[in-house]
Amino acid sequence: MAAKIIDGKAISAAVKKKVTADTAAFVANTGITPHLAAVLVGDDPASQVYVRNKERACEACGLKSTLHRLPAETTQEQLAALVEQLNNDAGVHGILVQLPLPKHLNSTPILDAILPSKDVDGFHPENVGLLLQGRPRFLPCTPHGVMKMLQHENIATAGKHAVVIGRSDIVGKPMAALLVQKGADATVTICHSRTADIAAICRQADILIAAVGIPEFVKSDMIKPGAVVIDVGINRVDDKLVGDVDFAAASEIAAAITPVPGGVGPMTIAMLLQNTLEAARFSQKAG
Ligand code: GUN
Repeated sequence: MAAKIIDGKAISAAVKKKVTADTAAFVANTGITPHLAAVLVGDDPASQVYVRNKERACEACGLKSTLHRLPAETTQEQLAALVEQLNNDAGVHGILVQLPLPKHLNSTPILDAILPSKDVDGFHPENVGLLLQGRPRFLPCTPHGVMKMLQHENIATAGKHAVVIGRSDIVGKPMAALLVQKGADATVTICHSRTADIAAICRQADILIAAVGIPEFVKSDMIKPGAVVIDVGINRVDDKLVGDVDFAAASEIAAAITPVPGGVGPMTIAMLLQNTLEAARFSQKAG
């Protein structure tokens, strides 16, 4: 039987509807519009699309967004100075530096410099630590979006074996941290490029989450019949977007699967809006 397609567009629309209503109430109560400052360095085409989509979503949901475009030859010092300026701007509630940065820039000190209370990506080490300890402040948007999709689809994680392919700081590691938390209660395995017999491990997964960045890496022989398959990959191949999962083959064997596009991608943006509203709320409590 063909897998159920998990509709990320529809689920993200529901999240955005709630963010829109909550934002309107926040603005009415405080007179303050939540404000996201996005920083884009260079002209990576995919990053330009992502940032534009984030801006549009802010606008559609009643949040303010400002895009700071810096040229590809921006220095580490110039980028750090902009982050500092945004940290000190009380009118900015959330700061997002789009990754990847051009190769000559080191993202670590930049992400470390973002005020943890404005870190709507959840990448600052303080926020990563809080997440790991089970007392999260900002949840990283993509893993949070995946959890939201699972909840929306009534897919239980407790006692299930979740296998995460990929160990990035943006997706793989925080995804595993969320799944293993009390409340989610999954048993989690992280696979990566040095994992031996990755197919055999993936075949044990009740929930398989692919975040490797390799087009159609997950083939049907890596999927347990009836598993839930979440595809975080967005790869451009011959001008077409494909995920990290061989969708056609996987949907013959999985119970449920996310498409690319229209799966996890829209969820990431919805969770970013939620975090930006949350950051504006923090600023009110702190101020
Ligand atoms: N690049 C790919 N995903 C993300 C994300 O969630 N946040 C930022 N800042 N950059 C990204």
